[in-house]
Amino acid sequence: MSLLIKGGTIVTASDTYVGDLYVDGETIHSIGTSLDVAADRTLDATGKLVIPGGIDVHTHLDMPFGGSSSVDDFQTGTIAAAFGGTTSIVDFAIQEFGNPLQQAYDTWQEKARGKAAIDYGFHMIMREVDDAILKEMGAMVDLGVTSFKLFMAYPGVFFIDDGAIFKAMQRSGEIGATICMHAENGLVIDALVEQALKQGHTEPRYHALTRPPRAEAEATHRAIALAEMANVPVYIVHLSAAEALAELTAARDRGLPAFAETCPQYLFLDYTNYTEPGFEGAKYVMSPPLRDKSGQDELWRGLRGNDLQAISTDHCPFCFNDAGGKLLGRGDFSKIPNGAPGIETRMALVFDGGVATGRISVNRWVELTSASPAKIFGMFPKKGTLAPGSDADIVIFDPNGESVISASSHHMNVDYNPYEGRRVRGISETVISRGEVIIEGGSFLGRPGRGQFMQRDSRFVGEELPWDTTSNT
Ligand code: URP
Ligand code: ZN
Ligand code: ZN
Repeated sequence: MSLLIKGGTIVTASDTYVGDLYVDGETIHSIGTSLDVAADRTLDATGKLVIPGGIDVHTHLDMPFGGSSSVDDFQTGTIAAAFGGTTSIVDFAIQEFGNPLQQAYDTWQEKARGKAAIDYGFHMIMREVDDAILKEMGAMVDLGVTSFKLFMAYPGVFFIDDGAIFKAMQRSGEIGATICMHAENGLVIDALVEQALKQGHTEPRYHALTRPPRAEAEATHRAIALAEMANVPVYIVHLSAAEALAELTAARDRGLPAFAETCPQYLFLDYTNYTEPGFEGAKYVMSPPLRDKSGQDELWRGLRGNDLQAISTDHCPFCFNDAGGKLLGRGDFSKIPNGAPGIETRMALVFDGGVATGRISVNRWVELTSASPAKIFGMFPKKGTLAPGSDADIVIFDPNGESVISASSHHMNVDYNPYEGRRVRGISETVISRGEVIIEGGSFLGRPGRGQFMQRDSRFVGEELPWDTTSNT
């Protein structure tokens, strides 16, 4: 099957020009200002943006958590992602206590098999770090799982101590892997939660009040310091607070290889959402929590100036009205399952709130949502750009189209949308995954199970390497 996409404005992280793009099979064959080639199908992209498919490097599909399970599986979650212009995800496999990483890898492959509609990869969450696990990290890299998430939060669930983090970081340096850090001081947070509950504070907003920005900033500082001592890069996930960004900026100003993502919820929602009437605030319970609106300009500064390198979603949906969802925490905010949906809305929200408002350029939008995550997580240039030889993961995006976000029309398997009623500019009109049109005319035309596992490289591609990588080998 061949496709000719004609007359669109081709946008990558670095270029913007009007041109034609010819897809032969699963990859991009050629790009030119006016291609004269016969194709099985021609798509007219006049007046539209032609961009590389979005890459969301932080999702939790079918994830057991807090006595519940996230409600999008690999089928519903990846179809929703496709509707939103995302053609690749990296989800988190979770090591069980006492079990090898291989078991988590196998479990997550099983979850995805026959279901994933777009390409997918895995990070590995490590809950224990001993000699056997440190050794096994190398086997994971050989399988294409080249990043590992560690938690400084959730004592008793995911938390591991600084010594274990340090050892995992040293090992990541040996094998060229990336450590992704959930940076919040979980021990302090648990103390604050206990005190709040003792005082009878049970409402959702106490989730935010017991997870102060300084708990994130302190952990961010510590994560970077540990990485500096281990002489490895570190990637901070779901950075939310301006105070944490200041730590990252200071480290980068010193030339350290510290990287971070933020998420749309930290750019477009804020603490006041927790004060919505009744139990509504539970919809926004996630960790780190939503912050004061005043910090959002700082996040945009970070995104513009490359102190933040990526925007992911941390998609982790729990229903609002289900007994096994957010309602678990009625009467005790600490029992509300942490997480919110967003896999479908990322590209349009960031286009609308970033590009259409002039906060970032259209190229930076592509960079933050596709090119840069592809580089950091070993997918570039197969993914993350439009170039001959790259996978034909392409979105024809209408910058003038508008939609109103709503749970009544979204495709995520969750009964609310945190952005309910928000009007956004920009629609992912036609979505192509490895040469196959999977979204067109508002319909999903793909097939669950067509998504392929991405065996990722164990090195940054195309990123500057300001640190001495040889000292780890
Ligand atoms: O609240 C969140 N973020 N839930 C998902 C788990 C995590 O820490 O990323
Ligand atoms: Zn996390
Ligand atoms: Zn997460």
